[in-house]
Amino acid sequence: MSMALVYLASAVGLVQGLKFMGDPARAKLGNTVAAASVVIALIAVAIAHSGPGTSSFTIALLVGLILLGTVIGKVWSDRVAMTAMPQLVSIFNALGGACAVVLGLNAVHSEGPVDSKFLGIVLILGGVFGGTAFTGSMVAYMKLDGRKLPRPVKAHKHVAQVLLLTMSAITLSYLIAPSDYLAFPTLLLTISIAALLYGIFFTLPIGGADMPVLISLLNALTGVATLMAGLLFHDPVMLIGGILVGATGLLLTTQMCTAMNRSLGNVLAGSFRSSGAVVNEAEQEIKPITAVETASLLAFCKQVAVVPGYGMAVAQAQRECFALQEQLRQNGVDLHFIIHPVAGRMPGHMNVLLAEANIPYASVIDMSAANGKMEYYDAVLVIGANDVVNPAAENDPTSSIYGMPIIRAYKAKQVIVMKRGMAKGYSGVTNTLFDRANCKVLFGDAKESLLTIINELKRI
Ligand code: TAP
Repeated sequence: MSMALVYLASAVGLVQGLKFMGDPARAKLGNTVAAASVVIALIAVAIAHSGPGTSSFTIALLVGLILLGTVIGKVWSDRVAMTAMPQLVSIFNALGGACAVVLGLNAVHSEGPVDSKFLGIVLILGGVFGGTAFTGSMVAYMKLDGRKLPRPVKAHKHVAQVLLLTMSAITLSYLIAPSDYLAFPTLLLTISIAALLYGIFFTLPIGGADMPVLISLLNALTGVATLMAGLLFHDPVMLIGGILVGATGLLLTTQMCTAMNRSLGNVLAGSFRSSGAVVNEAEQEIKPITAVETASLLAFCKQVAVVPGYGMAVAQAQRECFALQEQLRQNGVDLHFIIHPVAGRMPGHMNVLLAEANIPYASVIDMSAANGKMEYYDAVLVIGANDVVNPAAENDPTSSIYGMPIIRAYKAKQVIVMKRGMAKGYSGVTNTLFDRANCKVLFGDAKESLLTIINELKRI
């Protein structure tokens, strides 16, 4: 079988794997199919690049590095906590960008003069997209991990604009001016350094509720950088991988922008809006409720909904959510799950957790469908979610989350928010849901509260 057929088979496997991942029942199979396709592609590339002239040292180095990378990736992914998964994805993304930059610089220095404008542009774009994706993803990693970073100021945005102009001017002058092959390595190095700096200054001001858009955009940039590396090395596997990651990343970016009701331009301009009208938290009248009282309330409901959020992932309470659904079913109560597209810290975060706990997909309801019938829910349990149910997004134009569609839990007959204390959500905005007359707060770790509720329901 020719190598082209092996490449084609692994590309088809990768696409099919991704397709399977769209369906919770076949997601695990999809993951295995995609991973197997990548392994086949890696072996094929290794064979294709080890012709008769290749030294056994080079082959050993290649195989050794592939094995080392595989082991590090596997061990790291196995050990990482589910809540830290977005950080891991950011680091993997950053590594993809860094590879594109290194490959480009290495190609120029080892393969000699770049004698075509097309190749030059491919190298430049690989440096720009790869460099931006590398440092941008590292900053995103630090933000997601709660690391200390400089406070976003307007100057960051201006530096980013100057860097963008510089990179555009260099690229344009390269296109217009007669080729100077000898100067190209310096040009590529300069533009790569500018891209690395740009990634930092472009990412620093973006934050709060805009992080989901940023993460998917950086993912798309890594895809485009890989695509450029594929063009450079005439490598079909890199080309296909780059096109898939770039295209899916762009689609996801558009979907995230729609979910947040934000234009991409708006997000990229950096978030310097205030965190909303000053709400005197001391004056917020919090109405607490106990787990036992919550169980009694739920036992007399007909329709209940759960809105899971990042706190459910922190508490690892997905299995208790399933147990609650089972218990309520025995008590004659219907329980639905309503997922917000940006709940948690990565796209699909809540869907993955609920699927892991075998919660039937049929009981998971789309946000827009649920919002249309929220008044019919006797009770909504908000489990570790905050920003995605904050009414300030609808009625406070000065709020940094204003315009983001929310799950209108406040419209249900009764809302119970489960959280440990009065900490704000990711965006740092005060939640005005707590002011509503129908909202009570069940303080405590979500898992422990759910266990008490389930035990109490068994007793009722
Ligand atoms: P958040 O607004 O971040 O709120 C999480 C809540 O969980 C907090 O109020 C916290 O309060 C509570 N919590 C934490 N640990 C808990 C535990 N063990 N038990 C019970 N409660 C716990 O979450 P959300 O509503 O899911 O919103 C997501 C936010 O993250 C959005 O602003 C979104 O833009 C942003 N974001 C999303 C993504 C993606 S791609 N989805 C990526 C980056 C950022 P206490 O500490 O008081 O308990």
